[in-house]
Amino acid sequence: MADPYLPYTVTIRNITIENDARDIKTFELVFADQTQRDSFDFVPGQFAEISIFGAGEAPIGIASSPLDADCITFTVKKYSTGVVSSALHNCEIGQTIGLRGPFGNHYPFDQMAGKDIVIVGGGFAVTTLRSTIRYLLHETNRSKFGKITFFYGARTPGELIYHDEISSWAQRSDIDVHLTVDNPDDSWTAHTGVVPAVVTSVAPTSENSIALVCGPPIMVKYTIPALKDLGFTPEQIITSLEMRMKCGIGKCGRCNIGSKYVCIDGPVFSVAELEKLPQEF
Ligand SMILES: Cc1cc2nc3c(=O)[nH]c(=O)nc-3n(C[C@H](O)[C@H](O)[C@H](O)COP(=O)(O)OP(=O)(O)OC[C@H]3O[C@@H](n4cnc5c(N)ncnc54)[C@H](O)[C@@H]3O)c2cc1C
Ligand code: FES
Repeated sequence: MADPYLPYTVTIRNITIENDARDIKTFELVFADQTQRDSFDFVPGQFAEISIFGAGEAPIGIASSPLDADCITFTVKKYSTGVVSSALHNCEIGQTIGLRGPFGNHYPFDQMAGKDIVIVGGGFAVTTLRSTIRYLLHETNRSKFGKITFFYGARTPGELIYHDEISSWAQRSDIDVHLTVDNPDDSWTAHTGVVPAVVTSVAPTSENSIALVCGPPIMVKYTIPALKDLGFTPEQIITSLEMRMKCGIGKCGRCNIGSKYVCIDGPVFSVAELEKLPQEF
């Protein structure tokens, strides 16, 4: 991108309501021409700045896979007092919005190659993990990685997003899916309980494995020790941080932790890297 502050204009092609509360929506965006999509070259874990003209912009993790050739997907929760998230939720199919990016680093696919992958997600923060799983399961990539085990939890069944897609993953023989909720309803047949407890009971091996963890801070906080108890070292546990950001490109100083800017040095960090930083996240 020539001017990193200048957004592409993209059109909303589809909107999916993801949860019972109807405050999480997935937006499929298409570029004005395919050459712009081709030059928007990203790797799962990266984010983009979405702008609603007249409202502002916000960093949002990319939820689609780079191998989804025709569109880019984002899943956004509406905060009742949130300026950008509310404006985006008021948008309709066919409307034009802005997109800058891709920004930040990504999950370490070179390091993950040949290893078993344990993926732990919670709530709507599972977006970049969805991008990752779509990428790993793609026929051009699946043989490069070992066993994939996916843990995903929310408070209630109605808060689990990507419902149909995750159900289709659960039917496959090349990924183990473990869903859990804190408060099940009568139709719930999977795990009950918090994510770290389910990780502990399923006990994926740490040998030749990498764990990716992304979710609400409380879930990440308790999942990391659960993985360490299973033998995962801080280098083998990768997580993604959501700090407040403005520019997204290391210029404004809004997102730093110690000497690191989360927008360019992150948002993806190993626990080994985070343990060397001030605990400001
Ligand atoms: C790297 C990165 C990736 C992100 N990915 C996603 C994503 O995939 N989907 C998504 O929905 N959001 C994501 N976010 C959060 C997003 O950038 C915004 O913070 C969020 O959409 C709210 O913006 P807003 O303008 O509506 O709220 P603002 O107008 O900025 O804030 C209004 C109110 O909401 C509260 N608030 C704002 N953001 C948060 C938050 N993250 N958690 C709790 N309270 C908050 C504020 O404290 C304030 O009270 C990501 C953030 C980062 C840094
Ligand atoms: S958001 Fe501006 S420096 Fe990171």
